[in-house]
Amino acid sequence: MTLRVTAAVMLAFFIATIVVSAPQAEAKANMQKQSFGKSEDGQPVDLYILTNKHGMEAAITNYGGTVVTLKVPDRNGKIDDVVLGYDKLDDYAAGKAYFGAIVGRYANRIAHAKFTLDGTTYTLAKNDGDNHLHGGFNKRVWTAKDVSSSHGQALELTYLSKDGEEGFPGNLSVKVVYTLTNQNELKIDYSATTDKDTVLNLTNHCYFNLAGQGNGDILQHQLMIRADRFTPVDANLIPTGELRSVKGTPFDFTTATVIGARIDQDDQQLKLGRGYDHNWVLNSGSAGSLSLAAQAYEPHSGRVLEVSTTQPGLQLYTGNFLDGIRGKQGKIYNRRYAFCLETQHFPDSPNHPDFPSTVLKPGQHYQSTTVYAFSTR
Ligand code: GLA
Repeated sequence: MTLRVTAAVMLAFFIATIVVSAPQAEAKANMQKQSFGKSEDGQPVDLYILTNKHGMEAAITNYGGTVVTLKVPDRNGKIDDVVLGYDKLDDYAAGKAYFGAIVGRYANRIAHAKFTLDGTTYTLAKNDGDNHLHGGFNKRVWTAKDVSSSHGQALELTYLSKDGEEGFPGNLSVKVVYTLTNQNELKIDYSATTDKDTVLNLTNHCYFNLAGQGNGDILQHQLMIRADRFTPVDANLIPTGELRSVKGTPFDFTTATVIGARIDQDDQQLKLGRGYDHNWVLNSGSAGSLSLAAQAYEPHSGRVLEVSTTQPGLQLYTGNFLDGIRGKQGKIYNRRYAFCLETQHFPDSPNHPDFPSTVLKPGQHYQSTTVYAFSTR
């Protein structure tokens, strides 16, 4: 009898322990949130830490929807942070590099900061010589919500870009969901609606160095881009309108090629970009299905990054304007210490009726997806 009672008490205790400890175990598995300071206008800003089963970790702030750190294992399981950035919010607020940020309302350049839509000419903020570059979403405080599911820990960020902000027409509701999956992917789902005809081009501006942030230049990374054509630019980095074949040029990455192999060749387009700073016309086209766009491989760490997207274009930017910026952990970022693979519509599309359209109308639902998938070999 006593024995039975003891056994029953022990069992009850055992069950209670499981029940009580279960939420704790789960809490640890949940997305973590910590303060990241205050924006210039006094709004509290947070840092959300997403983790997965394989030790991958993404720290994302609702300031600009910025990926602050992205920790990824190498072929020996050693974890490194593979994106450039800052330790402090103030540096993001003052910075001009768009490190890790959500870029919009219009990613990349709009010539002379002007475009015409439905017969009305809109004048935008000039923030790149005579041009408009990248909009201002990267310096806004977004509303954050934990939307984790069985697909992985996920952070939803929303922002209302008011009619006339930076000169763009229409109140635009934007939603960006970052999901860190157990397949070592950082998936980014973008959606938006507007109440007036407008133009829209959203991307993420992570600066990658698969050898670890601040660990030298990226010239030894091998890169493949699934594109037979690119959009050549003029002296202001505005597309001329031509879709030029990459064949026989330093822009041919149809088979994996070391980034540094041709970057300093005597090529007019490379000179204009001070290296690679161009849009590739993805072979997958603008049908909108998720397709592999590019693959990067860093031989020492063995890290591989695969970029898939529903977008028709990809900007390869090789950090040509990095000029000794002091970044995370005191690392100094010199020229070509990172590369960006910005999935997008083509730069200056609002002034190129032949390019895939970036117009969004009331009643339409903008939707795009980009996946940054990590592995090793
Ligand atoms: C993009 C542009 C570059 C540069 C960077 C940010 O990739 O194409 O010219 O402006 O952003 O520095």
